Amino acid sequence: MAIQAPATRPANPRFSSGPCAKIPTFSLELLADAPLGRSHRAAVGKSKLHTAIETTREILGIPADYKIGIVPGSDTGAVEMAMWSLLGARKATMVAWESFGSGWVTDVVKQLKIDAEVKTADYGQIVDFAEVDFDTDVVFTWNGTTSGARVPNGDKIPADRDGLTICDATSAAFAMDLPWDKLDVTTFSWQKVLGGEAAHGIIVLSPRAVERLESYTPAWPLPKIFRMTKGGKLIDGIFKGETINTPSMLAVEDYLVALDWAKSVGGLKGMIARADANTAVISAFVDTHNWIEFLAADPAIRSNTSVCVKFTDTRITDGAVFAKAVAKRLEAEGVALDIGAYRDAPAGLRIWCGSTVETSDVEALMPWLNWAFEAEIAAL
Ligand SMILES: Cc1ncc(COP(=O)(O)O)c(C=O)c1O
Repeated sequence: MAIQAPATRPANPRFSSGPCAKIPTFSLELLADAPLGRSHRAAVGKSKLHTAIETTREILGIPADYKIGIVPGSDTGAVEMAMWSLLGARKATMVAWESFGSGWVTDVVKQLKIDAEVKTADYGQIVDFAEVDFDTDVVFTWNGTTSGARVPNGDKIPADRDGLTICDATSAAFAMDLPWDKLDVTTFSWQKVLGGEAAHGIIVLSPRAVERLESYTPAWPLPKIFRMTKGGKLIDGIFKGETINTPSMLAVEDYLVALDWAKSVGGLKGMIARADANTAVISAFVDTHNWIEFLAADPAIRSNTSVCVKFTDTRITDGAVFAKAVAKRLEAEGVALDIGAYRDAPAGLRIWCGSTVETSDVEALMPWLNWAFEAEIAAL
């Protein structure tokens, strides 16, 4: 018997975990004010870049004495810049629970060859921060984009730590509360929760991170695009919008538009509420269907952006083949694009629930998920 397809479809089928859905109001005309063909060092360019920095501070509640820079290479560029500039002054602890965190471990251990303790947890779990020595420099990912497991809060990070905390918060910023007093370096890209463009990264430095930059010179050479100091002093201009190299003013304009939209939905609080509401739709579905589970079993550490689920039906013999077939079927129907689990993650689906996604679209997707599951079971 053919399985009846649901009557309604998500208005926007974009549930990719990066680049993520653009703001619901997006149109290219919104970018008309971009100063294209002008120097980014002209007053208009500098002013846009400065506004991008200060609006980021305003929405995220970043303290006035923290430095915010727009840097090359998206989130990866910002994380690498931090690790190459700051690590090596003391022992490091590398904390990872999915593939992006593991990537930072590899870079520190194999490329920088730093004396580091490595702490890992399986997909769906996180490392207990009570067991991390925060007198070492600690590198971790706030939200594991490929596992859907996140740090619940910063409570276990001591205020009086001697080491620096370096946090990749790219799939967390704008959808989760980040405790700035517990984070010395925070990085993210515009392409995630804001649905912006990639290319540029944001790096946020605490006063302690700045102090390290000004008092420590790594033993290795630093390429120009990583250099944040000159003659032992922070290059202050970078943190006012005088970027190290040429940014895309089109991407900057797009970021400014996304920031305005974020303000229009209630700023950080509103953005978090939107992601929470999206995730709640999937929770309700998982609760009422016995063939699907979250990869992160514990709700306290479950992501509200990159929501990862797995199929648990005992009739399924090859989980990876089954999950791929479900994702392909949904994509072919045009109801969900790019929701297959990340290539290194356990088999399943990853449905982006970040703030630019409309709750009505997640609601409309759920019957389709049921439909695709039943169709694939019938095809077994
Ligand atoms: C946790 C995490 N870190 C780093 C990256 C890399 O980001 P980008 O490609 O913007 O540099 C991603 C991308 O998905 C990510 O999720």
